[in-house]
Amino acid sequence: MPLRRRPTIILGVAFASLLIAGALRAQSPAPRPHDTTDGLALTPPMGWYPWNEFGQEPQNEKLIKETADALVSSGLKEAGYAYVGPDEGICFFRDASGELTPNLERYPSGLRGLGDYIHERGLKYALYTDAGTRTCSKAMPGTKDHEFEDMAAFAAWRADYLKVDWCNTEGQDVVKTYAKLHEALAAAGRPLVYSLCSWGVGKPWEWAASVGHLWRTTGDICEPGKADLDRAMKVAAANEKLSEAAGPGHWNDPDMMIVGMDGLSEAQNRSFFSLWCMMAAPLMAGNDLRKMTPSTMRILTNLEAIGIDQDPLGMQGHIVRRDGKVEIWAGKRLFDGSQAVLVFNRGATPARAQVAWPEVGIAESAAMYARNLWTHQTSGPHRGSISVVAGPSDVVLLRISKGEAFPVPPIIVASSYRVSLRANGPAALKLTGALTVKNNGSEDLPPWRVRPGLPSWLTVAVTKNGKSQTLTNTVSTAGLKQGLYHAMVRADNTEPISGLPMSALYYDVDLEITHSTGGK
Ligand code: GLA
Repeated sequence: MPLRRRPTIILGVAFASLLIAGALRAQSPAPRPHDTTDGLALTPPMGWYPWNEFGQEPQNEKLIKETADALVSSGLKEAGYAYVGPDEGICFFRDASGELTPNLERYPSGLRGLGDYIHERGLKYALYTDAGTRTCSKAMPGTKDHEFEDMAAFAAWRADYLKVDWCNTEGQDVVKTYAKLHEALAAAGRPLVYSLCSWGVGKPWEWAASVGHLWRTTGDICEPGKADLDRAMKVAAANEKLSEAAGPGHWNDPDMMIVGMDGLSEAQNRSFFSLWCMMAAPLMAGNDLRKMTPSTMRILTNLEAIGIDQDPLGMQGHIVRRDGKVEIWAGKRLFDGSQAVLVFNRGATPARAQVAWPEVGIAESAAMYARNLWTHQTSGPHRGSISVVAGPSDVVLLRISKGEAFPVPPIIVASSYRVSLRANGPAALKLTGALTVKNNGSEDLPPWRVRPGLPSWLTVAVTKNGKSQTLTNTVSTAGLKQGLYHAMVRADNTEPISGLPMSALYYDVDLEITHSTGGK
């Protein structure tokens, strides 16, 4: 199997592959990715985690629910942010029998209840644990020697994403430990995004693609509540060197974002976000979503920049040239044959940069259009190069293309990830529950294809209405006994311009049948 899928189309002959090769660096071969047939994280995960802004203490059900609500009301959900949940957050203990049990004081709805709340809002549920004996704060148990029971608990709570930290792991082998957890996750049977967090310990970029979907490449980007741009730039510099290791279903993770935290200017926020998009980094917001400025919202929801991050080819860009305090980033070919180019001015005064086509993988003679992804303006055709001015600590983020169309790749937004139906009485009933799935990218998608193998009581029909599709779930209770029934539906799709597979859509269907008689 190829390590990276390349689209079969595009790349005009003029953009000779030799030139592209010249713009890329020689690096050690990328690790063999795990089987991507789970369809998970084929583009970098997007969502929110509390650690950067809050640390441990204020984390509880109220904060997570308010943040889930803010994801919806702010428009971040519409821009593709989906994963949300506690990060540490003292959410469970281990009981005397060795089982994980939710901390009901902090999470009164229980951890399954919190998951349902998140899913019902069309968001996905992220949880956290540790590979050692205790989590970093030591307030929660780690998974060591409980790998299989714990992964079963996360599956029962309906997590869609699990971050596994590396504290308190004295004497443990990092590769074997994370591989065992991968086996335990597979045994638990719920498809979820597996996020390794060894902070670069054990060089996960060399092996973690064989077990997980993303891995932290560095230490923490900041102390809770204290955004630190210098530290963030060191994280970016370390992560930049690892571009060959990233691809669909396996990503370098330079940590959660600091965009919108106190202490960063608008230009710094824009620069940070552009760097994360160029590096195909997971876009996990780390700020307080309940009180964002309009500027932070504009930056976090810029669909044209997000489209660079969420590009189906999944290439991680890197620096191709430094000129004083200016960096030119490229090496990120996109699904429609265009190229992403970033000019980043680290200096304190405005800087002009001339970007020559060959240094970003384009034939010198080519006439190209340039789309500025922050001003949303197209210019050109430009021959041979483009000249831009980046402000202090600011960027110019460009897409360079042969044509004037700059399609945005799929950004999938669902009305819900849970359908819950209830029937009372022995009479056979037909019940339906629908959810809608929208593409906020530019193209109409083909109909979602529902995986066969659903239980006999459930059928799913897909109807298409432009960029929105409805998945109607019909349940038949004929012949079913009292009880709780559950199914996980998977649907797949293809990005129409490149023909590449998209991340699979998974949702839960719950059916409760009661035969209560009488009175009320
Ligand atoms: C580590 C991780 C952080 C966060 C904290 C929680 O430091 O790297 O991202 O999860 O643990 O304690």
